[in-house]
Amino acid sequence: MKVLGIETSCDETAVAVFESGRGLLANCVWSQVELHRPHGGVVPELASREHIERLLPMIYDSLREARLAPQAIDGIAYTAGPGLIGALLVGASVARSLGYAWGVPVIGVHHLEGHLLAPQLEPGAPDFPFIALQVSGGHTMLVEVAGIGQYRILGETLDDAAGEAFDKTAKLLGLGYPGGPALAALAESGRDGVFDFPRPMLDRPGLDFSFSGLKTAVVVAVRGRTLDQQARADVARGFEMAMVETLVTKSLRALRQTGIQALIVAGGVGANRRLRAELSAAVARAGGRVHFPRPEFCTDNAAMIALAGHARLAAGEREALPVRARARWPLDELAAPRP
Ligand code: KG4
Ligand code: ZN
Repeated sequence: MKVLGIETSCDETAVAVFESGRGLLANCVWSQVELHRPHGGVVPELASREHIERLLPMIYDSLREARLAPQAIDGIAYTAGPGLIGALLVGASVARSLGYAWGVPVIGVHHLEGHLLAPQLEPGAPDFPFIALQVSGGHTMLVEVAGIGQYRILGETLDDAAGEAFDKTAKLLGLGYPGGPALAALAESGRDGVFDFPRPMLDRPGLDFSFSGLKTAVVVAVRGRTLDQQARADVARGFEMAMVETLVTKSLRALRQTGIQALIVAGGVGANRRLRAELSAAVARAGGRVHFPRPEFCTDNAAMIALAGHARLAAGEREALPVRARARWPLDELAAPRP
């Protein structure tokens, strides 16, 4: 079964083709970063317009890359939410229209389910059950994944998402958008221990996160001071260390509490090199195993949407004709595939 995947939930326009047994046949991503950079963040209306301009040509290019005619596509998967509603509607209406024209089933996929299943795009992915640390610009949660659609949220952020905290701290340090990768790069030249920021919620039991205190600590540290390049790097390093230690400690706690040994990391912050190094070492010391998707499968992409949609379509799940798009969509409302 060959599935065309479409992702337009935020500021990446992405199209992929996934086939059972063969894997990815095409994987195209158009990052809108340059469009939004002058505004210091994603402008929803500009994102929607850019999706409209890019999407159809990218579908054409993806089919060509996969060496497929449209008639060879057996199903279409699109991101139905959560995300920016206008942006979602572009992908949803294009997917629905093509499905109608080509006479193939179409399915709306939950963006986070895409992230949770992304490791399966590569060899060596853990079998169910596993724990997923989902860390992106909009979400931070620990999820027990027992199977497709069987998600138990063990803990989540009470305020900012991890990626959002990276982005806001980067802004405070005068770094451009997107802030996460820029802050991580600056932290490379920072010194350990110059700024010792709080590790939020580590002293409390449970698996929830909170990052607003950490952000405030950074605000207090930089307020009213002129920081030279080294001092800015030291702040970035201190922030990254606090963030990474918090994510590592809670992930280990989730493994211990559930008795599950395999951890996967999903979402854009999973591209962070310090997180990858420290989490790998800590989980190995605890006798577990951590799996990181390649950075391009951590950040937003359509390969994960095609794969998740494929899993549901192959299980016989079908969706009624109305276009589905939800700006908000709790992950634990999902169920196993239903034919
Ligand atoms: O999953 P994603 O691509 O989009 C969402 O669904 O949110 O995640 C984007 C987030 C942004 O906040 C970005 O700053 C962060 O991931 N990010 C990073 C790194 N690369 C991306 N944060 C820290 N270090 C990185 N290397
Ligand atoms: Zn995402």
